Amino acid sequence: MDSRNRIVVVGATSAIAEHCCRLWLQGAAAQLTLVARDAAKVERIAADLRVRSPASTIDVVTMDFLDTAAIRQLAQSSGAAGPIDIVLIAHGVLSVQATCESDLAACREALEVNAVSPALFAEAFAGELAKVGKGTICIIGSVAGDRGRKANYVYGSSKGLLSRYAEGMEHRFAGTGVRIVLAKPGPTDTPMAAALKAQGRRLASVEGVARDIVRAIAKGKPVVYAPWQWQWIMMIVRHLPRFVFNRLNI
Ligand SMILES: NC(=O)c1ccc[n+]([C@@H]2O[C@H](COP(=O)([O-])OP(=O)(O)OC[C@H]3O[C@@H](n4cnc5c(N)ncnc54)[C@H](OP(=O)(O)O)[C@@H]3O)[C@@H](O)[C@H]2O)c1
Repeated sequence: MDSRNRIVVVGATSAIAEHCCRLWLQGAAAQLTLVARDAAKVERIAADLRVRSPASTIDVVTMDFLDTAAIRQLAQSSGAAGPIDIVLIAHGVLSVQATCESDLAACREALEVNAVSPALFAEAFAGELAKVGKGTICIIGSVAGDRGRKANYVYGSSKGLLSRYAEGMEHRFAGTGVRIVLAKPGPTDTPMAAALKAQGRRLASVEGVARDIVRAIAKGKPVVYAPWQWQWIMMIVRHLPRFVFNRLNI
């Protein structure tokens, strides 16, 4: 029997996801399925990972991330090939709040990509993990999901939905071998945060955030802030009374 971990990475062209893959392959050879929308980009990442870990098997799947039939089919074919150890759901887009306020189509797209699509992948793979009673699903949320703010509540509320979704799934699988991990990165140095970087914002390193996520998955930790300091920052933000919070320009 093949003892290599079976890992499915949805949104595999994400910089955070790519660094998680590198860490997994540094530890041991694995069977990776990389799921993305951009064939050329994901093939480049797969080629790089194959060089890093020749003993690993790396497959690539491209699809529409809102196609419910394709999501179900992906989960079922992955589950049929054998027990899945890890599913990482990483895709997302940092929508522009002002655009979403004036353009409902952009608003809908942001909500779909950041909330509906990851929830559908999680649901489809949960069904497969439930059949074997083990495995870990990690969804990448964000610190932005902890409290709605005027600067980015379209993105933030999408990530908030993922928090509730992960919480519900954790409850569903309590007492089984299935683990649900919600990762909440703070601003991280990836292409998504390029505009923040240009404004001079301090960003966490993608390597460090990926390390925190991989560690939390190994432990089956229900919620991980990355870097960990965000846990305390967001606890304060969540608890600020409205009369203070509503005066802040954030
Ligand atoms: N970087 C941060 O500051 C930060 C902070 C908190 C949370 N996060 C979360 O971390 C996760 C990974 O992001 P990242 O930082 O690694 O950013 P990234 O490198 O820009 O990756 C974003 C990923 O989302 C995919 N994506 C975007 N729109 C999509 C769509 N319509 N359909 C399918 N896939 C789509 C991208 O695919 P393409 O390559 O095809 O564009 C890419 O794989 C996201 O969920 C993000 O919200 C990031």
